[in-house]
Amino acid sequence: MKRLLCLSLVLQVALPAAISQEFTVPVPRIQVLSPRGFRVSIPDQDGIQLFAFHGSLNKPMNGLEAGEFSRDILIKTDGQWVFEDHTTKLKPGDVINYWLFVIKDRLGYRYDNGEFHVRDVPPSSTILYNQHPSAESTTNKKDKPEIYSNCRCQMMTYVMNKVNDLALEVEKLRENTGVLQELMEKNEMVSQEMKFEGVLPPYEDAAYVAQVIINGKLGLSVPVLNASRNNDNSITFRLASLGDKVTVIKVAKKELINSKIKLIY
Ligand SMILES: *[C@@H]1O[C@H](CO)[C@@H](O)[C@H](O)[C@H]1NC(C)=O
Repeated sequence: MKRLLCLSLVLQVALPAAISQEFTVPVPRIQVLSPRGFRVSIPDQDGIQLFAFHGSLNKPMNGLEAGEFSRDILIKTDGQWVFEDHTTKLKPGDVINYWLFVIKDRLGYRYDNGEFHVRDVPPSSTILYNQHPSAESTTNKKDKPEIYSNCRCQMMTYVMNKVNDLALEVEKLRENTGVLQELMEKNEMVSQEMKFEGVLPPYEDAAYVAQVIINGKLGLSVPVLNASRNNDNSITFRLASLGDKVTVIKVAKKELINSKIKLIY
């Protein structure tokens, strides 16, 4: 039960975006810097919390590997999320293979299989870099930045994979539930009837007694279709659907735990 609750929370929060991809990581702007380095940037959007760049020079990226360049950017600069490298000397013909990871509103999104072909390198008089010193300041310090960055990124990849696994799992559960529902609904007694026994409210009308317990004790507004009293004074009653029955059972498990009324199903 706890697992299901947890699952449904995760689904409410994480799946809509994971499945429908309401946000798409934009194609990044990549600039070659002079005398060395390059800059990768995307424009800020409300809710973006992290921008990660992973790339390698003249080498294909092996899946979602961290790559030769690997950094999480946690602070935007002038409305941009910017990764900068200041050490790599690029020449025409070089290829930067990369993938991006963006966290927006606590959900992760990827831009996969990026490829940037270096066509021309700006003249060395153009000092393009160092315009965004704060962009990397949190993660680019010399004290163990790579470990931090890689850990974090692995964690994010892990979370993404988990969300996908959960989506598949839920699809399976949904299918199973559908089949079980069909099976149950073949038999109205199984799918709609159950019984209250024990110390019941002292009313004559059986349906009324069942309805009073459901409304008063369980706090539900599920309607009782009909009911009949058995020889042992217990009351068998029928609900409109399997869904109603499941609802009543779930609530009764908690609400009737110390009660003199028992639900038999
Ligand atoms: C409710 O009504 C149906 C249809 O008339 C009947 O078959 C069933 O036995 C009734 N159930 C109870 C619990 O009285």
